[in-house]
Amino acid sequence: MNTMLASLPPLGWNSWNTFGEHISDALIREMADFMVDQGWLAAGYNYLVIDDCWSLRDRDENGLLVPDPEKFPHGMKELADYVHHKGLKFGMYSCAGVMTCAGYPSSYDHEFVDAQTFASWGVDFLKYDFCNFPESGDCRNRYQTMAMALKASGRDILFSACNWGRHDPWKWMRSRGAHMYRSTGDIMDNYVSFTDIFKSQLDNLCMSGTDCFNDMDMLTVGMCGKGNVGFGKVCTYEEYRLQFALWCLCGVPLMMGADLRSLKPEYVALMQNKDLLRIDQDEECRPPFLIRRGSVFTSNPEPKEGEFPWRELPDSSFTLFRHLSGGEFALAFINLSEAETCMHCELVDLGLPVSSGFALEVRDAFTGEVLGRKADYFNPTVPGHDMKLYLCS
Ligand code: DGJ
Repeated sequence: MNTMLASLPPLGWNSWNTFGEHISDALIREMADFMVDQGWLAAGYNYLVIDDCWSLRDRDENGLLVPDPEKFPHGMKELADYVHHKGLKFGMYSCAGVMTCAGYPSSYDHEFVDAQTFASWGVDFLKYDFCNFPESGDCRNRYQTMAMALKASGRDILFSACNWGRHDPWKWMRSRGAHMYRSTGDIMDNYVSFTDIFKSQLDNLCMSGTDCFNDMDMLTVGMCGKGNVGFGKVCTYEEYRLQFALWCLCGVPLMMGADLRSLKPEYVALMQNKDLLRIDQDEECRPPFLIRRGSVFTSNPEPKEGEFPWRELPDSSFTLFRHLSGGEFALAFINLSEAETCMHCELVDLGLPVSSGFALEVRDAFTGEVLGRKADYFNPTVPGHDMKLYLCS
Protein backbone atom coordinates (compact mmCIF):
# COMPACT_ATOMS: atom_id res chain seq x y z
CA MET A 1 0.00 0.00 0.00
CA ASN A 2 1.04 3.57 -0.65
CA THR A 3 2.22 5.28 2.52
CA MET A 4 1.41 8.85 1.43
CA LEU A 5 -1.92 9.30 -0.27
CA ALA A 6 -1.93 13.07 -0.06
CA SER A 7 1.61 14.32 0.22
CA LEU A 8 0.43 17.35 -1.78
CA PRO A 9 -3.02 18.96 -1.98
CA PRO A 10 -5.21 16.70 -4.16
CA LEU A 11 -6.30 18.07 -7.56
CA GLY A 12 -9.27 16.99 -9.62
CA TRP A 13 -12.87 17.47 -10.65
CA ASN A 14 -16.12 16.83 -8.76
CA SER A 15 -19.61 16.46 -10.24
CA TRP A 16 -21.59 18.35 -7.60
CA ASN A 17 -21.26 22.06 -8.35
CA THR A 18 -22.53 21.85 -11.91
CA PHE A 19 -24.44 18.60 -12.18
CA GLY A 20 -25.98 17.84 -8.78
CA GLU A 21 -28.21 14.81 -9.26
CA HIS A 22 -27.86 14.89 -13.08
CA ILE A 23 -24.96 12.49 -13.27
CA SER A 24 -24.50 9.44 -15.45
CA ASP A 25 -22.01 6.93 -16.73
CA ALA A 26 -21.85 8.77 -20.05
CA LEU A 27 -21.15 12.11 -18.36
CA ILE A 28 -18.33 10.70 -16.23
CA ARG A 29 -16.72 8.95 -19.21
CA GLU A 30 -16.93 12.14 -21.25
CA MET A 31 -15.41 14.13 -18.40
CA ALA A 32 -12.62 11.56 -18.11
CA ASP A 33 -11.91 11.96 -21.83
CA PHE A 34 -11.84 15.72 -21.44
CA MET A 35 -9.54 15.59 -18.43
CA VAL A 36 -7.00 13.75 -20.52
CA ASP A 37 -7.52 15.40 -23.92
CA GLN A 38 -7.60 18.96 -22.59
CA GLY A 39 -4.43 18.63 -20.54
CA TRP A 40 -6.00 18.51 -17.08
CA LEU A 41 -4.36 15.23 -16.14
CA ALA A 42 -1.02 16.43 -17.47
CA ALA A 43 -1.41 19.57 -15.34
CA GLY A 44 -1.87 17.37 -12.25
CA TYR A 45 -5.67 17.10 -11.90
CA ASN A 46 -5.93 13.35 -11.51
CA TYR A 47 -9.06 12.72 -9.37
CA LEU A 48 -12.45 12.41 -11.02
CA VAL A 49 -15.08 12.34 -8.27
CA ILE A 50 -18.77 11.45 -8.42
CA ASP A 51 -20.67 13.26 -5.66
CA ASP A 52 -24.13 12.61 -4.16
CA CYS A 53 -27.08 10.94 -5.99
CA TRP A 54 -25.34 7.99 -7.62
CA SER A 55 -27.17 5.13 -5.85
CA LEU A 56 -30.62 3.66 -5.61
CA ARG A 57 -32.77 4.87 -2.71
CA ASP A 58 -32.43 1.52 -0.93
CA ARG A 59 -29.68 -0.96 -0.18
CA ASP A 60 -30.03 -4.44 -1.68
CA GLU A 61 -31.13 -7.52 0.28
CA ASN A 62 -27.55 -7.98 1.51
CA GLY A 63 -27.36 -4.46 2.82
CA LEU A 64 -25.09 -3.26 0.01
CA LEU A 65 -25.21 0.07 -1.79
CA VAL A 66 -26.46 -0.24 -5.37
CA PRO A 67 -25.58 2.17 -8.19
CA ASP A 68 -28.71 3.53 -9.88
CA PRO A 69 -28.94 1.32 -13.03
CA GLU A 70 -30.54 4.11 -15.02
CA LYS A 71 -27.67 6.49 -14.36
CA PHE A 72 -24.91 3.88 -14.21
CA PRO A 73 -26.07 0.91 -16.31
CA HIS A 74 -22.63 -0.72 -16.37
CA GLY A 75 -22.10 -0.50 -12.62
CA MET A 76 -19.23 1.26 -10.87
CA LYS A 77 -16.46 -1.27 -11.40
CA GLU A 78 -16.61 -0.93 -15.16
CA LEU A 79 -16.75 2.85 -14.91
CA ALA A 80 -13.79 2.86 -12.51
CA ASP A 81 -11.89 0.67 -14.98
CA TYR A 82 -12.57 3.19 -17.73
CA VAL A 83 -11.39 6.08 -15.54
CA HIS A 84 -8.26 4.14 -14.52
CA HIS A 85 -7.55 3.19 -18.10
CA LYS A 86 -7.39 6.91 -18.84
CA GLY A 87 -4.72 7.30 -16.16
CA LEU A 88 -7.08 9.03 -13.73
CA LYS A 89 -8.15 8.11 -10.21
CA PHE A 90 -11.77 7.38 -9.40
CA GLY A 91 -13.59 9.10 -6.54
CA MET A 92 -16.98 8.44 -4.98
CA TYR A 93 -19.17 9.86 -2.26
CA SER A 94 -20.96 8.76 0.89
CA CYS A 95 -22.02 10.37 4.11
CA ALA A 96 -21.42 9.91 7.85
CA GLY A 97 -25.15 10.35 8.60
CA VAL A 98 -28.06 7.98 8.12
CA MET A 99 -28.90 9.44 4.69
CA THR A 100 -26.95 11.57 2.24
CA CYS A 101 -27.91 15.22 1.86
CA ALA A 102 -30.04 14.31 -1.16
CA GLY A 103 -31.74 11.46 0.73
CA TYR A 104 -29.84 8.42 -0.52
CA PRO A 105 -28.57 5.63 1.76
CA SER A 106 -25.35 6.50 3.52
CA SER A 107 -22.74 4.88 5.67
CA TYR A 108 -23.66 5.47 9.33
CA ASP A 109 -23.28 2.02 10.95
CA HIS A 110 -22.36 0.59 7.51
CA GLU A 111 -18.82 1.95 7.38
CA PHE A 112 -16.98 -1.35 7.01
CA VAL A 113 -19.28 -2.96 4.47
CA ASP A 114 -19.41 0.22 2.39
CA ALA A 115 -15.64 0.66 2.47
CA GLN A 116 -15.35 -2.93 1.19
CA THR A 117 -17.82 -2.16 -1.58
CA PHE A 118 -15.92 0.95 -2.63
CA ALA A 119 -12.65 -0.98 -2.59
CA SER A 120 -14.16 -3.77 -4.70
CA TRP A 121 -15.20 -1.21 -7.31
CA GLY A 122 -11.71 0.27 -7.48
CA VAL A 123 -12.46 3.55 -5.72
CA ASP A 124 -9.39 5.70 -4.94
CA PHE A 125 -11.02 8.65 -3.14
CA LEU A 126 -14.01 8.88 -0.83
CA LYS A 127 -15.73 12.17 -0.10
CA TYR A 128 -17.59 11.72 3.19
CA ASP A 129 -20.41 14.18 3.88
CA PHE A 130 -22.19 15.09 7.14
CA CYS A 131 -25.94 15.37 6.48
CA ASN A 132 -28.51 13.60 8.65
CA PHE A 133 -26.02 12.83 11.36
CA PRO A 134 -27.83 11.57 14.48
CA GLU A 135 -27.94 13.94 17.46
CA SER A 136 -26.69 11.08 19.60
CA GLY A 137 -23.75 10.35 17.29
CA ASP A 138 -20.17 11.34 17.99
CA CYS A 139 -18.83 13.04 14.89
CA ARG A 140 -15.16 12.44 15.68
CA ASN A 141 -15.78 8.73 16.27
CA ARG A 142 -17.72 8.24 13.06
CA TYR A 143 -15.04 9.87 10.92
CA GLN A 144 -12.51 7.74 12.76
CA THR A 145 -14.60 4.62 12.05
CA MET A 146 -14.70 5.34 8.32
CA ALA A 147 -10.95 6.04 8.31
CA MET A 148 -10.40 2.62 9.91
CA ALA A 149 -12.83 0.96 7.49
CA LEU A 150 -10.97 2.41 4.50
CA LYS A 151 -7.65 1.26 5.94
CA ALA A 152 -9.09 -2.23 6.45
CA SER A 153 -10.48 -2.34 2.89
CA GLY A 154 -7.18 -3.46 1.41
CA ARG A 155 -7.10 -0.56 -1.06
CA ASP A 156 -5.48 2.88 -0.93
CA ILE A 157 -8.44 5.23 -0.65
CA LEU A 158 -7.92 8.91 -0.01
CA PHE A 159 -10.32 10.00 2.75
CA SER A 160 -11.92 13.37 2.05
CA ALA A 161 -13.90 14.23 5.19
CA CYS A 162 -16.61 16.81 4.60
CA ASN A 163 -18.13 17.93 7.89
CA TRP A 164 -18.30 21.59 6.88
CA GLY A 165 -16.02 22.91 9.62
CA ARG A 166 -18.29 21.60 12.37
CA HIS A 167 -16.47 20.97 15.66
CA ASP A 168 -13.31 22.66 14.31
CA PRO A 169 -12.01 19.75 12.21
CA TRP A 170 -8.61 21.48 11.80
CA LYS A 171 -8.04 20.56 15.46
CA TRP A 172 -8.70 16.82 15.20
CA MET A 173 -9.33 15.50 11.67
CA ARG A 174 -5.63 14.91 11.03
CA SER A 175 -5.48 12.68 14.10
CA ARG A 176 -8.51 10.70 12.83
CA GLY A 177 -6.84 9.68 9.58
CA ALA A 178 -8.51 12.01 7.05
CA HIS A 179 -6.42 13.31 4.14
CA MET A 180 -8.45 16.49 3.77
CA TYR A 181 -11.30 18.05 5.69
CA ARG A 182 -13.92 20.53 4.55
CA SER A 183 -13.59 23.56 6.75
CA THR A 184 -16.68 25.54 5.72
CA GLY A 185 -20.24 25.25 4.51
CA ASP A 186 -20.94 24.95 0.79
CA ILE A 187 -19.33 27.37 -1.59
CA MET A 188 -21.68 29.25 -3.87
CA ASP A 189 -20.75 30.64 -7.23
CA ASN A 190 -20.38 34.25 -6.10
CA TYR A 191 -17.74 36.64 -4.82
CA VAL A 192 -18.99 36.99 -1.25
CA SER A 193 -19.12 33.24 -0.76
CA PHE A 194 -15.53 32.47 -1.77
CA THR A 195 -14.00 35.52 -0.10
CA ASP A 196 -15.84 34.67 3.14
CA ILE A 197 -14.39 31.16 2.97
CA PHE A 198 -10.89 32.57 2.48
CA LYS A 199 -11.23 35.01 5.40
CA SER A 200 -12.67 32.35 7.69
CA GLN A 201 -9.76 29.96 7.12
CA LEU A 202 -6.75 32.26 7.22
CA ASP A 203 -6.11 31.54 10.89
CA ASN A 204 -6.58 27.78 10.45
CA LEU A 205 -4.13 27.18 7.65
CA CYS A 206 -1.18 26.43 9.90
CA MET A 207 -2.92 23.12 10.70
CA SER A 208 -3.15 22.21 7.00
CA GLY A 209 -0.29 20.33 5.39
CA THR A 210 1.11 17.10 4.06
CA ASP A 211 -1.36 14.21 4.29
CA CYS A 212 -4.18 16.28 5.81
CA PHE A 213 -5.26 19.44 4.01
CA ASN A 214 -7.79 22.12 4.78
CA ASP A 215 -10.42 21.78 2.05
CA MET A 216 -11.91 25.22 1.29
CA ASP A 217 -14.45 23.51 -1.01
CA MET A 218 -14.66 22.88 -4.71
CA LEU A 219 -13.76 25.69 -7.08
CA THR A 220 -16.51 27.54 -8.89
CA VAL A 221 -14.02 29.06 -11.34
CA GLY A 222 -15.48 29.29 -14.83
CA MET A 223 -18.99 28.17 -13.90
CA CYS A 224 -20.26 31.55 -15.09
CA GLY A 225 -23.68 31.17 -13.49
CA LYS A 226 -24.27 27.51 -14.40
CA GLY A 227 -24.33 26.44 -10.77
CA ASN A 228 -25.54 27.76 -7.44
CA VAL A 229 -24.96 31.51 -7.63
CA GLY A 230 -26.94 32.00 -4.39
CA PHE A 231 -27.74 35.62 -3.57
CA GLY A 232 -24.67 37.03 -5.23
CA LYS A 233 -23.75 38.04 -8.76
CA VAL A 234 -21.99 35.90 -11.32
CA CYS A 235 -18.23 36.42 -10.94
CA THR A 236 -16.11 38.36 -13.41
CA TYR A 237 -12.95 36.85 -14.86
CA GLU A 238 -10.86 38.83 -12.34
CA GLU A 239 -12.97 37.51 -9.45
CA TYR A 240 -12.56 33.92 -10.62
CA ARG A 241 -8.85 34.55 -11.01
CA LEU A 242 -8.82 35.85 -7.44
CA GLN A 243 -10.60 32.71 -6.20
CA PHE A 244 -8.16 30.39 -7.94
CA ALA A 245 -5.11 32.35 -6.81
CA LEU A 246 -6.34 32.46 -3.19
CA TRP A 247 -6.81 28.68 -3.15
CA CYS A 248 -3.31 28.23 -4.60
CA LEU A 249 -1.79 30.68 -2.17
CA CYS A 250 -3.41 28.78 0.71
CA GLY A 251 -2.05 25.47 -0.62
CA VAL A 252 -5.41 23.70 -0.47
CA PRO A 253 -7.02 20.97 -2.63
CA LEU A 254 -8.17 22.17 -6.05
CA MET A 255 -11.29 20.27 -7.05
CA MET A 256 -12.82 21.92 -10.09
CA GLY A 257 -16.60 22.14 -10.25
CA ALA A 258 -17.23 23.69 -13.67
CA ASP A 259 -18.31 21.74 -16.73
CA LEU A 260 -14.92 21.16 -18.32
CA ARG A 261 -16.54 20.49 -21.69
CA SER A 262 -17.67 24.09 -22.07
CA LEU A 263 -15.04 25.91 -20.05
CA LYS A 264 -13.90 29.13 -21.75
CA PRO A 265 -10.23 29.12 -22.82
CA GLU A 266 -9.28 31.83 -20.31
CA TYR A 267 -10.38 29.56 -17.44
CA VAL A 268 -8.53 26.59 -18.90
CA ALA A 269 -5.41 28.75 -19.03
CA LEU A 270 -6.02 30.06 -15.52
CA MET A 271 -6.46 26.67 -13.85
CA GLN A 272 -3.54 25.23 -15.81
CA ASN A 273 -1.24 28.19 -15.04
CA LYS A 274 2.04 26.56 -14.07
CA ASP A 275 3.15 29.29 -11.65
CA LEU A 276 -0.14 29.19 -9.74
CA LEU A 277 -0.11 25.40 -9.58
CA ARG A 278 3.53 25.49 -8.55
CA ILE A 279 2.50 27.63 -5.56
CA ASP A 280 -0.41 25.36 -4.64
CA GLN A 281 1.66 22.21 -5.03
CA ASP A 282 4.80 23.40 -3.32
CA GLU A 283 6.48 20.38 -1.81
CA GLU A 284 7.07 21.99 1.58
CA CYS A 285 3.32 22.60 2.04
CA ARG A 286 3.84 25.64 4.25
CA PRO A 287 0.87 27.92 4.83
CA PRO A 288 1.01 31.63 3.99
CA PHE A 289 1.10 34.10 6.85
CA LEU A 290 -0.52 37.46 7.20
CA ILE A 291 1.87 40.35 7.11
CA ARG A 292 -0.86 42.90 7.45
CA ARG A 293 -4.59 43.31 7.22
CA GLY A 294 -5.75 46.82 6.33
CA SER A 295 -5.26 49.68 8.73
CA VAL A 296 -1.72 50.61 7.86
CA PHE A 297 -1.06 53.73 5.91
CA THR A 298 -0.01 53.87 2.33
CA SER A 299 1.25 56.87 0.46
CA ASN A 300 -1.24 59.41 -0.80
CA PRO A 301 0.95 61.17 -3.34
CA GLU A 302 -1.48 63.97 -4.16
CA PRO A 303 -3.15 64.91 -0.88
CA LYS A 304 -6.07 67.29 -1.20
CA GLU A 305 -6.39 70.13 1.26
CA GLY A 306 -6.88 68.77 4.76
CA GLU A 307 -5.68 65.28 3.79
CA PHE A 308 -2.56 63.63 5.12
CA PRO A 309 0.20 62.49 2.76
CA TRP A 310 -0.81 58.98 3.67
CA ARG A 311 -4.11 57.14 3.88
CA GLU A 312 -5.53 54.14 5.65
CA LEU A 313 -5.85 50.86 3.81
CA PRO A 314 -9.29 49.29 3.99
CA ASP A 315 -9.70 46.40 6.43
CA SER A 316 -10.43 44.26 3.41
CA SER A 317 -6.87 44.43 2.13
CA PHE A 318 -4.50 41.60 3.00
CA THR A 319 -0.77 41.24 2.46
CA LEU A 320 0.34 37.62 2.69
CA PHE A 321 3.69 35.92 2.38
CA ARG A 322 4.44 32.27 1.85
CA HIS A 323 7.71 30.36 2.01
CA LEU A 324 8.13 27.99 -0.92
CA SER A 325 10.75 25.36 -1.60
CA GLY A 326 13.89 26.10 -3.59
CA GLY A 327 14.43 29.51 -2.06
CA GLU A 328 11.26 30.98 -3.56
CA PHE A 329 8.47 32.93 -1.89
CA ALA A 330 4.97 34.00 -2.82
CA LEU A 331 3.88 37.51 -1.96
CA ALA A 332 0.23 38.46 -2.35
CA PHE A 333 -1.50 41.82 -2.24
CA ILE A 334 -5.21 41.11 -1.95
CA ASN A 335 -7.84 43.80 -2.26
CA LEU A 336 -11.31 42.60 -1.29
CA SER A 337 -12.81 46.09 -1.33
CA GLU A 338 -14.56 47.51 -4.38
CA ALA A 339 -12.21 50.44 -4.90
CA GLU A 340 -8.77 50.30 -6.41
CA THR A 341 -6.20 50.45 -3.61
CA CYS A 342 -2.55 51.32 -3.56
CA MET A 343 -0.94 48.82 -1.19
CA HIS A 344 2.46 49.02 0.36
CA CYS A 345 4.98 46.65 1.86
CA GLU A 346 8.56 47.32 2.89
CA LEU A 347 11.18 44.62 2.53
CA VAL A 348 11.70 44.95 6.26
CA ASP A 349 8.08 43.70 6.68
CA LEU A 350 9.24 40.46 5.04
CA GLY A 351 12.09 40.10 7.50
CA LEU A 352 14.64 41.71 5.21
CA PRO A 353 16.26 44.66 6.97
CA VAL A 354 17.65 47.22 4.52
CA SER A 355 21.08 46.68 6.09
CA SER A 356 20.99 43.06 4.92
CA GLY A 357 21.72 44.27 1.39
CA PHE A 358 19.21 41.67 0.19
CA ALA A 359 17.06 42.13 -2.89
CA LEU A 360 14.31 39.97 -4.33
CA GLU A 361 13.90 38.93 -7.96
CA VAL A 362 10.20 39.33 -8.69
CA ARG A 363 7.92 37.68 -11.25
CA ASP A 364 4.18 38.19 -11.76
CA ALA A 365 2.57 34.79 -11.09
CA PHE A 366 -0.43 35.54 -13.34
CA THR A 367 1.46 36.65 -16.43
CA GLY A 368 4.97 35.30 -15.89
CA GLU A 369 6.31 38.80 -16.54
CA VAL A 370 9.68 39.40 -14.91
CA LEU A 371 9.37 42.54 -12.83
CA GLY A 372 13.02 42.85 -11.83
CA ARG A 373 14.79 43.33 -8.53
CA LYS A 374 13.22 44.85 -5.45
CA ALA A 375 15.54 46.14 -2.76
CA ASP A 376 13.26 48.52 -0.87
CA TYR A 377 9.48 48.26 -1.06
CA PHE A 378 6.46 47.09 -3.05
CA ASN A 379 3.82 49.63 -3.92
CA PRO A 380 1.30 47.88 -6.19
CA THR A 381 -1.99 49.40 -7.23
CA VAL A 382 -4.54 46.63 -6.86
CA PRO A 383 -7.95 46.95 -8.54
CA GLY A 384 -11.03 46.20 -6.43
CA HIS A 385 -11.89 42.48 -6.05
CA ASP A 386 -8.47 41.50 -7.32
CA MET A 387 -4.97 40.68 -6.19
CA LYS A 388 -1.34 40.89 -7.26
CA LEU A 389 0.59 37.71 -6.77
CA TYR A 390 4.36 37.67 -7.06
CA LEU A 391 6.84 34.83 -7.08
CA CYS A 392 10.05 36.06 -5.50
CA SER A 393 13.46 34.53 -5.08
C1 DGJ B 1 -23.07 18.92 1.05
C2 DGJ B 1 -21.63 19.06 0.64
O1 DGJ B 1 -21.05 20.09 1.38
C3 DGJ B 1 -21.55 19.35 -0.86
O2 DGJ B 1 -20.22 19.57 -1.24
C4 DGJ B 1 -22.17 18.22 -1.64
O3 DGJ B 1 -21.41 17.06 -1.46
C5 DGJ B 1 -23.62 18.01 -1.17
N1 DGJ B 1 -23.70 17.87 0.27
C6 DGJ B 1 -24.22 16.78 -1.82
O4 DGJ B 1 -25.48 16.54 -1.33
